Amino acid sequence: MAGRLNERISMITGAGKGIGRATALLFAKEGSAVFAVARTSTDLDSLVNDAAGSEGRITPVPGDITDRGFVAKLFEKVERECGRLDILVNSAGFVAGGSIFNMDEDQFLECLKVNVWAAFLCTKHAAIVMKKNGSGKIINLGSVRSHWTESGSAGAYNASKYAVKGFTESVARELHGSGTGISVGMVCPGVTDTPMTNPSGGPAPVHFMKAEVVADAILFAAANPENVNAYDITLFSTAQKPW
Ligand SMILES: NC(=O)c1ccc[n+]([C@@H]2O[C@H](COP(=O)([O-])OP(=O)(O)OC[C@H]3O[C@@H](n4cnc5c(N)ncnc54)[C@H](OP(=O)(O)O)[C@@H]3O)[C@@H](O)[C@H]2O)c1
Repeated sequence: MAGRLNERISMITGAGKGIGRATALLFAKEGSAVFAVARTSTDLDSLVNDAAGSEGRITPVPGDITDRGFVAKLFEKVERECGRLDILVNSAGFVAGGSIFNMDEDQFLECLKVNVWAAFLCTKHAAIVMKKNGSGKIINLGSVRSHWTESGSAGAYNASKYAVKGFTESVARELHGSGTGISVGMVCPGVTDTPMTNPSGGPAPVHFMKAEVVADAILFAAANPENVNAYDITLFSTAQKPW
């Protein structure tokens, strides 16, 4: 049976763990050829193993998306090997928090660098390739923290996720109606059981969603018709207090 992403070329950053990994597995199951990016090669090897037998395939591309040289080569590789890119999912993320009185200055910058600047780099390269195709979907991982801050001690992360929202809206404004056929949107999950929130991998609290639920939302956004943009899917557990 044809998958929902048959013959679609996708790139997923942060595909080694958590939401990115669950999305890569789902996309491969739905027939996509997935370029999977993260720094830890062993995570990508395990992803390839787990995707064996899927309709699609996974090409691991280990590297750091805050390295502009790596990102440029990454998109050159996709274009050289496939001639196009249909879907980009910016899922790589880094969390930094702490009180304003002692928040680590380097961690604050790193958080903005991974969550905002690297997503911008990948979006820029993807848009250039997708414009040549005449279509494409770019899906950014925001957070409920793109809409409300949840806590007063996570200034770096909260700022980065508000920035993802501003960046997404700005690029969507530029591209909607521009004739490029490229849509830009975001999926904004509440707390989700991944190595970011539950590094020990033990039983998660009841208000944690499963990464597979978020991956389903990302698939919905990715598999929509070309002329439809699922601009903002915000989803969180009913056991989580929003405000
Ligand atoms: N989990 C949640 O509760 C939650 C809620 C809302 C939004 N989100 C967002 O959803 C996205 C995914 O979160 P997650 O929970 O799945 O995170 P995760 O479990 O920590 O996984 C993050 C992935 O990003 C990769 N990564 C980090 N920095 C990178 C870099 N510089 N270059 C390449 N890859 C990099 C990591 O691999 P390496 O370290 O090996 O590179 C890892 O594979 C993030 O944007 C996060 O902010 C998460």
